[in-house]
Amino acid sequence: MPKGIYIVGTDTEVGKTVVSAGLMHLMLAQKYRSSYFKPVASGAIVINGITEAIDAVFVRTASGFSEEPGNITPFVFKNEVAPHLAARLEQMPIDVGVIKDRFQYLKGCYEWIIAEGAGGLAVPLNDEGYMQYDLIRELGFSCLLVANAGLGTINHTLLSVHFARSIGLKIKGIIINGSTRSLLERDNAETIIKLAGVPAVITIPALTGVDTEKCQIGNLKEVFEKSIVIDQIVAEMDEL
Ligand SMILES: Nc1ncnc2c1ncn2[C@@H]1O[C@H](COP(=O)(O)OP(=O)(O)OP(=O)(O)O)[C@@H](O)[C@H]1O
Ligand SMILES: [Mg+2]
Repeated sequence: MPKGIYIVGTDTEVGKTVVSAGLMHLMLAQKYRSSYFKPVASGAIVINGITEAIDAVFVRTASGFSEEPGNITPFVFKNEVAPHLAARLEQMPIDVGVIKDRFQYLKGCYEWIIAEGAGGLAVPLNDEGYMQYDLIRELGFSCLLVANAGLGTINHTLLSVHFARSIGLKIKGIIINGSTRSLLERDNAETIIKLAGVPAVITIPALTGVDTEKCQIGNLKEVFEKSIVIDQIVAEMDEL
């Protein structure tokens, strides 16, 4: 039975793709047969006539992971807006049945799945109120929550953790991303450890030269190799 984890954010642009790419790099380097999965992606790039999600291209660049785009990114939108709006603008409704089909396919081919959400947890995927957290629950994942290191993160992180708990979604760990180790950021991490009630809290330092939109990975591999013991993350993954 494959296992996996869903990378969710306290917000958009907090580093979910950077973390997914770092984890995929570590997983594949340790010979864990792993797939990236981003069911709904806003932001596309055309490479050799094929439209791909920017996030998937970044993960491939960092980790070497390659799969048919239709399998790992079933819904890719050009408009970098919320999924329900992108789906409406591009007249491509998000069909959860298609996402589940692709997920079944990946489960048949890989032993580990690192999935990435779009934005935060309370993100609608259509105009009828089907939410990203509904999808995560239906696919059977627990989550890793990625949070900013800087100002405002205590509030965003605690809101996300308590909300997840209130709807029965498990947060297995928190990744505090992009820390410069300033006094404020060290205190943020300590306060989150104290108040969130989540056993694993890992800090990833600020990287240099990283830009997901431009597909520049900078020193991502080296920093993740130093900051994360991948077996500890793997141990938190649930059967799917
Ligand atoms: N650890 C880090 N150090 C320095 N910069 C970072 C770090 N993590 C992320 N960034 C910056 O933040 C940008 C956004 O990160 P990323 O694309 O991973 O966010 P995201 O949560 O996946 O966004 P989205 O909601 O659009 O999928 C990156 O292009 C990079 O410039
Ligand atoms: Mg992303």
